[in-house]
Amino acid sequence: MTGEAGAFPNVALIKYWGKRDATLNVPTTDSLSITLDRLATVTKVRFMRSLSRDVVTINGRPEPPHSVGRVTAFLDLVRVMASTSLRARVESVSEVPVGVGFASSAAGFAALALAATRAVGLPLDPAGLSRLARQGSGSACRSLLEGFVKWRAGTRSDGLDSTAETLYAAAHWPLALLMVSVERDSKAISSRTAMERTVRTSPLYRGFLETAAGDLAVVETAIGERRWDLLGPTVERHALLMHATALGADPPVRYWRPGTVRVMDAVQALREEGFTAYFTLDAGPNPIVLCPVDQAEAVASRLVALAAVRDVQVCGPGRGAW
Ligand code: DP6
Repeated sequence: MTGEAGAFPNVALIKYWGKRDATLNVPTTDSLSITLDRLATVTKVRFMRSLSRDVVTINGRPEPPHSVGRVTAFLDLVRVMASTSLRARVESVSEVPVGVGFASSAAGFAALALAATRAVGLPLDPAGLSRLARQGSGSACRSLLEGFVKWRAGTRSDGLDSTAETLYAAAHWPLALLMVSVERDSKAISSRTAMERTVRTSPLYRGFLETAAGDLAVVETAIGERRWDLLGPTVERHALLMHATALGADPPVRYWRPGTVRVMDAVQALREEGFTAYFTLDAGPNPIVLCPVDQAEAVASRLVALAAVRDVQVCGPGRGAW
């Protein structure tokens, strides 16, 4: 029983930041992302009689117990659906260059969901696959899909209406997304822990909840009309607001490193020179800079020249999992 699948990471323009149900992994608000066209994760899953526990490797290296535990909890969902108790060997190969710091649970669980259901011969419809991947890592349901993707929070207590859909195919707007690496260390606090703590303790989280739907509506319009003047400022402000809520948590979560702020300053300076460049940040120190494709080379070379920047990977909107 073997299955294989691949998926790309995604970059959230409107963030998933808080759960209304942590068991089902259902978010408090809708989010919107772009699936990338590079940095794939390809995963092979083999359910085998000879195994007494799940074994997980990434780029040939065995994963630590806490990471295997998360994969086992996810595979348990698949085992229940497929009525099997077989354990699996999971081999993942990631194109993310070592040390670049964009290890993506989104691509990982999207590929795992597809590979595992293929291995057990369980053909799920897109909504079923979306719900399954979401339970591995929320943002994974967006990496299953092509282009500009919206994940609806839904309102049902069973989470059945919390699924992702493509709003626009990748070709709708071929913009550039520059993955800027300023830190190689893996982040100190996972997005899972940080968002839980933020929701529970940050007095600023209320501001995120109050603005998320409005920001998403603006970004949706901006994408529909391919308008940088609407997209850029909203995406940047929304990311800063997300990080402000984390800074307001108890104890505070601060992902920014000196290099993070250097890149923010550089993006601002580029704008003052006439470039159309804006940044966003997920739960880590490495910014993602958005700009028109015809400016990508110039923006990337300016960023890579900064002493704080280790690497810049230029991506665009890409396909869904395969
Ligand atoms: C800041 O999907 O990693 O990147 O569901 O707990 O696994 P879990 O969280 P995860 O959170 C991603 C948070 C974010 C914003 C986003 O991708 O929308």
